[in-house]
Amino acid sequence: MLTEEEIRQFKRDGYLIKRGIIEPEYCARACNRFWDDPPPSIKEDDPSTWIGPIKPEEESDDPDNFKKGYRWQYRKVSTEPWIREGLSFHPFVQSVVNQLLGEGRFTQPERVRGIYGTLPYGDVERTPRHMHIDAGQATIGLVCYVDRVEPNGGGFALWPGSHRRFWYTSRSRYRRELTDAFEPIRKEYDDTWETSSIQTYGDPGDIVFWHRRMAHMASPNYTSNIRKAVLTDFSWKNVEELGELPPSKDMWEDWTEAVRDLDDQQ
Ligand SMILES: [Fe+2]
Repeated sequence: MLTEEEIRQFKRDGYLIKRGIIEPEYCARACNRFWDDPPPSIKEDDPSTWIGPIKPEEESDDPDNFKKGYRWQYRKVSTEPWIREGLSFHPFVQSVVNQLLGEGRFTQPERVRGIYGTLPYGDVERTPRHMHIDAGQATIGLVCYVDRVEPNGGGFALWPGSHRRFWYTSRSRYRRELTDAFEPIRKEYDDTWETSSIQTYGDPGDIVFWHRRMAHMASPNYTSNIRKAVLTDFSWKNVEELGELPPSKDMWEDWTEAVRDLDDQQ
């Protein structure tokens, strides 16, 4: 379970990092399975071949194993029991989601999103971060590192507090139906990325819990290791119904009392 301070932090910043949660065996298995079907010239045992971008002739639009540029998203494993059970159904994860969304109020994920990789960028000039928000209707997202991610190693980047602004920039409470209020904030965040965004990193088994209305990106990978993370999400059971509503004045209205009643401004 999360402490009051942690929930307060989640409300204020929109994310929370919990370290060493997921079992090392799970992480090792995910790292291993990532190599099921690599681009032919990228060899597991030769890190010098890991530098992106993926060769144009080795790109793949197959959603089960998407490979393009520096992105390699392996989803064929997404519905296998071990990959769901070790993360989405992990007792700690379940207790956190129960605590935040309420028991029985969310859908148990039938799949994780996949094992998401970011290849090393090699010796390139560093580029600014560019934020986006996702189109899906999920409420809480999880990024679980399954391999060591060093600072600047392609970690998940977030704009703390952005959920509290972007909540009000969609006509729908959970679908992304952007209003004119979105663009000026997006521009502000992109222009100020050096101070307004943070980048997460860590060890296998570390999890980033994040509010799905946050500005984020998979940041560039300036290290020599491939960034590998398993992503999953939780959504309200009645999200279709809730999506018909406009954003609530109190953005935590649908969440549990434990969340709603905490003052996030302290
Ligand atoms: Fe995204």
